[in-house]
Amino acid sequence: MKVLLGVTGGIAAYKAGDLIRMLVRAGHHVRCCLTDAGSRFITPLTLATLSGEPCFGANPEYHEWRPNPRVEHVDLARWADILAVVPATADIIGKTANGLADDLLSTLLLAAECKVLWAPAMNRAMWGHPAVQKNIAVLLGYEHHVVYPASGVLACGEEGTGKLASVEEVFEAIGALGSAPLKQFTGKRVMVTAGPTHEDLDPVRTLTNRSTGRMGIEMSRAFRDAGAAVHLILGGELPAPWGIDTIRVRSAEEMLNACLALWPDMDGVCAAAAVADQRPERFEPQKVKKQDAPETVVLLRTPDILAALSNARTHQWMLGFAAESENLVQNATEKLSKKGLNAILLNDISQGKGFGDHDNCLIPITRNGPGGALGPVPKNQLAREAVAWFANHLEINPLKD
Ligand code: CTP
Repeated sequence: MKVLLGVTGGIAAYKAGDLIRMLVRAGHHVRCCLTDAGSRFITPLTLATLSGEPCFGANPEYHEWRPNPRVEHVDLARWADILAVVPATADIIGKTANGLADDLLSTLLLAAECKVLWAPAMNRAMWGHPAVQKNIAVLLGYEHHVVYPASGVLACGEEGTGKLASVEEVFEAIGALGSAPLKQFTGKRVMVTAGPTHEDLDPVRTLTNRSTGRMGIEMSRAFRDAGAAVHLILGGELPAPWGIDTIRVRSAEEMLNACLALWPDMDGVCAAAAVADQRPERFEPQKVKKQDAPETVVLLRTPDILAALSNARTHQWMLGFAAESENLVQNATEKLSKKGLNAILLNDISQGKGFGDHDNCLIPITRNGPGGALGPVPKNQLAREAVAWFANHLEINPLKD
């Protein structure tokens, strides 16, 4: 992908170097456009060296590539598949939102017909100022995209929201905007459940399981990159991915309520959550003291989220996961029909497989029986393969089952 990186005048400009390295390593073609203010924080030589291209900007000394200097901003704007401004100051955001163009980057931003991504970074009060927020809203209205700033200690010493988002998150957003959509999911609303749930016994003790939520998060990314508007209902501690509307939940009950609230507006669900199957009958509000005699906890069943969605289903497709340690295909096939799913992805969890960061395998199963195994590959690639497989399945079996 051809990435045009606008770098403006903020202390976070030094992080543009790391971003360029990541993009180049991933095989993208990067060109940089540096504003005069940006050049006080990072040099054109740094950007040119890391990108392997001349650095463009208002100052002609920055570069020597000028096929036609009169229309340079148009040439560069047409060259790019994506224009990302990292970091973006309040000034460049305000200029573009108001149609002003007085240097190369601001003219490029008006001339651009490609996707535009903003990664703002500024003081917390500046970021919170209604004028900046209004300008961001204007840019979102132009279908531009934003990687929102993070919270923490800012360069000025104040604490709050305004730090440039992590370079990894900006990199992810650029990759997501450049991904090739699948027609089955373009513009569709997809709900993904992910992660473990926690069923609390008392203020310090909880019942949960070994799921991290990685596979479900990767499924949400894969659906996003396939063109869907994704809603992630997430248990556990992992960070939410960029560009995905995420609702954090703790218990099975909370996950169920979040899912049911979204369900009527969804086109489908991918249920990857490892929902705890039992909860204690009673939550003890005070920490339970240990006793010498054996203790008994009465466990009740948690709601089956997929079964509840199946009952409330109108037009949606349903894709489930089956974590099995024995009689793999038979057990997964039973879940497929019991929960009324279009397809189920069988995950072999015998001998501790399927958890953590290892490569993983999935066997897709439909009413026609099991298909060929996907993987073993890292979970991000596995999720993309699973989504591509499911798109193909929907193509052949368009929601009649
Ligand atoms: N699931 C769910 N709600 C539950 C339990 C599971 O929605 N209370 C979903 C999971 O997200 C997964 C599928 O159902 O998509 C199968 O989950 P799994 O844990 O393999 O099976 P269970 O239905 O819990 O059955 P068992 O534990 O007996 O194998």
